Amino acid sequence: MSDEPDSVEPVDANVTAPLHPSNTGSGYLRLFVNIDHVATLRQARRGQEPDPIDAALLAERCGADGITAHLREDRRHIQDADIRQLAERITSRLNLECAATSEMLALAEAIRPQEVTLVPERREEVTTEGGLAVRRHVTLLADSVTRLKRAGVRSSLFIDPDPDDIRCAADLGADAIELHTGTYAHHPNDPATLAALRDATDLGRSLGLAVHAGHGLTVFNVGPVAAIDGIEELNIGHSIISRAIFLGLAHAVREVRDAMDLARARPS
Ligand code: PXP
Repeated sequence: MSDEPDSVEPVDANVTAPLHPSNTGSGYLRLFVNIDHVATLRQARRGQEPDPIDAALLAERCGADGITAHLREDRRHIQDADIRQLAERITSRLNLECAATSEMLALAEAIRPQEVTLVPERREEVTTEGGLAVRRHVTLLADSVTRLKRAGVRSSLFIDPDPDDIRCAADLGADAIELHTGTYAHHPNDPATLAALRDATDLGRSLGLAVHAGHGLTVFNVGPVAAIDGIEELNIGHSIISRAIFLGLAHAVREVRDAMDLARARPS
């Protein structure tokens, strides 16, 4: 992308070029940066800045392998126009997070992001609080996955690290699962929270699912999750955007990328 926005902070000339999954080794862990909270700040004034598209372009240049954005039904942060712009302008991969509603699926079919992660959504929640109740919504989720497949969009289901939910996600035909790391993030020193993610990853992989993870991850707690062999992709948002206020977005993305690479380089 040559028409770089001039409103973003300058980036060092030696910034690593964006890494694309197609030219990375099997042990490589992709970082998807969630830019929702750039839009949260913009929506506080319903104005133009800060622009989440600028943030996405900068994150790509600083080591993000993809951009994640959650179009919520109440449009509290990301807007439909943002999703269209992201699909047109980013050069990595777009992961659209959304609820499995007919409105969202129609948008995904029209825009065809590389990936859609289906998430539960409750209007009163502050953020996505738990994984999908996959076993309660088998028909709805199976139909959603089928629609996405027909549109050529990779489907991922955001679920808790629960063996029955993982088996159900595989039966539904999803391409991937994203493991909810919230319990680990709240209790990082409880070995059971990490063990649950490890076991869930092994089970998911054995059933042919790609395994992603995210929620509540930070530069300080990402290491043990990044070290889990078999996880392919992490989605990280709130902490990166929070630290960007003090450090700049380029630094905030790079430090997470570095922490992930360091964890992968070490035997777990
Ligand atoms: N993955 C999913 C499915 C999410 O809903 C969210 C939050 O929007 C994230 C990852 C990122 O979580 P956080 O903002 O806590 O890094």
